[in-house]
Amino acid sequence: MPQAPADDLFANDPAAPQALPLGAQAVLLRGFALAQADALVQCVQHIATHAPWRHMQTPGGQTMSVAMTGCGPLSWISDRRGYRYAAHDPLTGQPWPAMPQAFLQLAQAAAQQAGFAGFQPDACLINRYAPGARMSLHQDRDERDMDAPIVSVSLGLPAMFLWGGATRAERPLRVPLQHGDVVVWGGVDRLRFHGVLPLAPGAHPTTGDCRINLTFRKAR
Ligand code: SIN
Ligand code: FE2
Repeated sequence: MPQAPADDLFANDPAAPQALPLGAQAVLLRGFALAQADALVQCVQHIATHAPWRHMQTPGGQTMSVAMTGCGPLSWISDRRGYRYAAHDPLTGQPWPAMPQAFLQLAQAAAQQAGFAGFQPDACLINRYAPGARMSLHQDRDERDMDAPIVSVSLGLPAMFLWGGATRAERPLRVPLQHGDVVVWGGVDRLRFHGVLPLAPGAHPTTGDCRINLTFRKAR
């Protein structure tokens, strides 16, 4: 049988543990959101009726392949002027939809499990990946509060997460993420480069033909 490449972390290993360290202060909590996943997706669908999915422009004039929306007091926007957190959805002119209690509870429980007690996210970015959509290697550095972790929840189709180092030059580890998985990174790992490979086509009972990712942040 062909060997999985050494950087295909935990691929298809049913005996792999549920909390997989990705760094001194980074961990993959496998299936942590599974029990709430269907409810989370319903919340996302509701949020998108108020703050519609959109493909943002980068300051360089590129259109992002992921569709985005958000909720919470703040959410992240990108346009030709740059990246920033904003209290209003530029598409509707309205405040972002409130963060559902189920989102907040899950984010806080995952952060606590990962060693970040007292996490108070004020922003939830919601990314929707259609087949082929990707997220190139980047750092999450637009948040004012670098002491708070990032909590990232995967829903729907599986994806290959790229988990890099402190510099772009470091070759990223490939970490398969499934429906219900949660990755938390903070502290010394807060500025690790990360990304997502182009999504493979598929069908998922909860999300259909896409992957949805929630990232919780303390932006201010
Ligand atoms: C992100 O880095 O904002 C998204 C990560 C993911 O989709 O898993
Ligand atoms: Fe990110």
